[in-house]
Amino acid sequence: MSNEELFKNQIGVVGAGRIGRALILKLLEKGYPYDNIKLTYNGSIFTFSDISDNNLIDMISSNAEIVKISSILILSVPPQSFKSIGNFNLTDDTLVISFMAGINSETIKEQTGSDNVVRIIPTGPDTIRDSKAIAGVYGRDSRACELFKLLDIDYCLVDDEEKMDYIAIAGCLPAIFCRVAPDSDEAKEAIDRISEDFPEFREIACKCGKLVPDDNKDEFISRFTTPGGVTQAILNGLNMGKSLYDSLLMGIERNRELSDESW
Ligand SMILES: NC(=O)c1ccc[n+]([C@@H]2O[C@H](COP(=O)([O-])OP(=O)(O)OC[C@H]3O[C@@H](n4cnc5c(N)ncnc54)[C@H](OP(=O)(O)O)[C@@H]3O)[C@@H](O)[C@H]2O)c1
Repeated sequence: MSNEELFKNQIGVVGAGRIGRALILKLLEKGYPYDNIKLTYNGSIFTFSDISDNNLIDMISSNAEIVKISSILILSVPPQSFKSIGNFNLTDDTLVISFMAGINSETIKEQTGSDNVVRIIPTGPDTIRDSKAIAGVYGRDSRACELFKLLDIDYCLVDDEEKMDYIAIAGCLPAIFCRVAPDSDEAKEAIDRISEDFPEFREIACKCGKLVPDDNKDEFISRFTTPGGVTQAILNGLNMGKSLYDSLLMGIERNRELSDESW
């Protein structure tokens, strides 16, 4: 599919927080037509201020409107907020791309009404803005692949949705490696042990090690951290003095809890 074809899609970003805005700004940088992107948020004045600073005000829509007009819906709300949006009542197979941790495809299909759901868990917003994002993807759709390519996301496809638990912790690694150096014995041990269950983890971890910034690490970590999310759970483990391996297991546990909490 050519970019010209892709650019005809009306994209609706439900939840223009850190990830949502990073995606929109990258799309605009790549020439996506401004008028073909709409966004929603939950009324925070800080988010409004960011939307305004980035000249995105004319994209603001409502959840009710955005589900009607979009041919590609991007879900980038916190997993805990998904259920409260209510049923989308989609009557066709609108492409739904979820960036949410935790929530599985079946749940997303039930709530949106679309059977065409692709899940992606990328590294954080800074890596998207810098064209350096790494991700795991579950579900197949050619338009989704074109969109990820346009966004310069380096992704691996997983064939079993349960593996998205490992992808969820892999996506946190650039922030986590700000706290535990990727070449430390502790990191090597954690990567070895997780790779026993999910071999692709080793290569993803190696790529994530190269995304650690040289400075402003605290700011980088905070943009990675969705409140109550997987990165925060891993950092909590480290703050409690747990090993990186045990902290990563806490991240997996948190990813599973997020799926239940949304219901
Ligand atoms: N941050 C990361 O590094 C990262 C990495 C991989 C995946 N993710 C996933 O990406 C998603 C977004 O994370 P984030 O860090 O961007 O979170 P965030 O900065 O908190 O953004 C979430 C956005 O969703 C909006 N929102 C909440 N409820 C809503 C509703 N009912 N309708 C419309 N918008 C609503 C919020 O609006 P207000 O601002 O008005 O509250 C906020 O702007 C999460 O599901 C997370 O699991 C994040």
